[in-house]
Amino acid sequence: MTIRRLASLCTRALTCVALLAVVATAQQGPYRVASPDGRNVVQVESRDGALRYGVERDGRAVITPSRLGFTFRGAPALRDSLRITGRAERSHDERWTQPWGELTTVRDHHNELRVDVMEAGATGRRFAVVFRAFDDGIGFRYELPDQPGLRDYEISDELTEFALAENGRAWWIASNRPRLDRSEQLYSVGPVSTLDSVQTPLTIQMPSGLQVVIHEADLVDYPRMFLAGATMETRKLRAALAPWADGVKVRGRTPLVTPWRTIQLADRVEDLHPQVLTLKLNPPSRIADTRWITPQKYVGIWWGMHINTMTWSSGPKHGATTANTKQYIDFAAANGLTGVLVEGWNTGWDGNWIANQNAFSFTQAYPDYDLPALASYAKSKGVGLIAHNETSGGIANYERQMDDAFRLYRSLGITAIKTGYVADTVGGGHSHYGQFAVRHHRRVIETAARYGIMVDAHEPIHDTGERRTWPNMMTREGARGQEYNAWSGEGGNPPEHESILFFTRMLAGPMDFTPGIFDILMKRPTGVARTDEEPRVRTTLAKQLALYVVLYSPMQMAADLPENYAGQPAFQFIRDVPTDWASTRVLDGRIGDYVVVVRQQRGGQDWYLGAISDEDARTMDVSLSFLPAGTRYVAEIYADGPGANWRTNPLPVTISRRPVTSASRMRIALARGGGQAIRFRAVR
Ligand code: NOJ
Ligand code: CA
Repeated sequence: MTIRRLASLCTRALTCVALLAVVATAQQGPYRVASPDGRNVVQVESRDGALRYGVERDGRAVITPSRLGFTFRGAPALRDSLRITGRAERSHDERWTQPWGELTTVRDHHNELRVDVMEAGATGRRFAVVFRAFDDGIGFRYELPDQPGLRDYEISDELTEFALAENGRAWWIASNRPRLDRSEQLYSVGPVSTLDSVQTPLTIQMPSGLQVVIHEADLVDYPRMFLAGATMETRKLRAALAPWADGVKVRGRTPLVTPWRTIQLADRVEDLHPQVLTLKLNPPSRIADTRWITPQKYVGIWWGMHINTMTWSSGPKHGATTANTKQYIDFAAANGLTGVLVEGWNTGWDGNWIANQNAFSFTQAYPDYDLPALASYAKSKGVGLIAHNETSGGIANYERQMDDAFRLYRSLGITAIKTGYVADTVGGGHSHYGQFAVRHHRRVIETAARYGIMVDAHEPIHDTGERRTWPNMMTREGARGQEYNAWSGEGGNPPEHESILFFTRMLAGPMDFTPGIFDILMKRPTGVARTDEEPRVRTTLAKQLALYVVLYSPMQMAADLPENYAGQPAFQFIRDVPTDWASTRVLDGRIGDYVVVVRQQRGGQDWYLGAISDEDARTMDVSLSFLPAGTRYVAEIYADGPGANWRTNPLPVTISRRPVTSASRMRIALARGGGQAIRFRAVR
């Protein structure tokens, strides 16, 4: 209750004195919890009935006091008459091994503060907010226990605010564009005070130099969180949940535990990777034996459809034929790639496939595609098929068939699927990001796990660390990937795109970007550049190689047509590069400009470096002190060749070798739109 509302209740002087006495004591807290290193501090208090939290780092405000609470449909808000009635603190320190990823061992070391909250008045509804302070950020979530006054609920808004202490610069994509509420957009940059409605992870650089990333973890049965700007003049962002068709955001029955709201904090942009905050805020693995879960490189009957030389649908250009697939299997086997994705293998693609959602079968192959024979041919070559499941948003059609389909795949030894949700809405009118869709995606992951199947999801819900609990949730899209370079009229991805993705989308988790297009200009006579509007790739060829190291995915595609790799010495890098790492370090980077990242192979001594630039050329001097002292290495260097630049001369790659040790330094020159990829091969 505010003082003004209290004053309006003052009818007699005596009541006034009594009420104001309540106000004077109407404050609990602030209670504090600090990260193990003492630098990140969360404070929570209730004052005049409002519950607020704030965050400081090194004694300096990051989030100023920000409201917490909910509004409901059909019930009063939990917002204005809240008291902290209890609190509990605990500490936790644990290490575990991720079955695959950007690093082997994750340490979850945090201090926790739980505050119990009760509303004044007859209803007396109760909930708790749990805060965890880590050295790399903070997380908090609500817990609403089952109680008579709060059982079946319809949440109309989560009132969580993030009032930023400074007007930082944010890299953002919109969440409120009609028909564009998907994540496949180019990023913009601007002050937090100008943000309208944006997606997370939202990366913000404060004037003080602090790096802040707002996101969420452990999204299970709740809508995805967007962030809405309160007004143009404040720096206060509000949680904005993706709604059901009727406007309700969350429906269910208590107990309710919300996803964690996460605020990742780092002194330098380079320290944002590897991001493990969301992994720490997800439950441990539910899959006991993870040996069948295998990071991999794959090729696919895929790019041909995007550049129009093949079709998903049946007919003379049908890509998914038995003969074609055999060639892709042979190509994969010959080059040490272990997966073959086939799109357009199943019936339902004929006609307007985006509108065909109910026509898709996930078990019935086209007559020119011999599924069992191909699955066993692949197996005989040490390769696995990846079954494509485009739903066009037809969730009911997919869920009806899911068990049968996964059972079939399993019986054929197919251990991976790629899902897709190309549609404006899913399930007949639902948001891609609402509770309905979140539930569906979870069902897919859990069902797939039961059948021993790995998932690569396109048009997905954003990553909130699911892979900790379900390590068969391998990778996903959820941003503009390579495919945009194939389409005319879309403008393609500009040269700065991937160096923004690295510090934004990639802070959620792995991405199936599908790098490795070598035919950059798409079959133009040499020397003839395409116009800016025509479809083409806006990088050099060396940068395509570097993307395998920069943009992490446990399933990494060699996206081009096999014939475009023939006779290309640079393809050796794609053969060599791992998809599973023991450790990761960003040596240098600036959002939207460039990135230099090194990763250590898991189960081996080799290291790899990927460096990418935007539309500018740049030269960097890199210390190799990340290599273990005392081991000799040969650096196998794939650099932009003489005169290379993304626009007029993207193809030249110079491959060279030189002996190095941890004491060496290397000069890394990147062309305009260029990149460099290096394998540091340990010498025995
Ligand atoms: C969009 C996906 O991103 C792409 O990879 C796929 O080929 C098409 N949908 C068809 O499912
Ligand atoms: Ca897509």
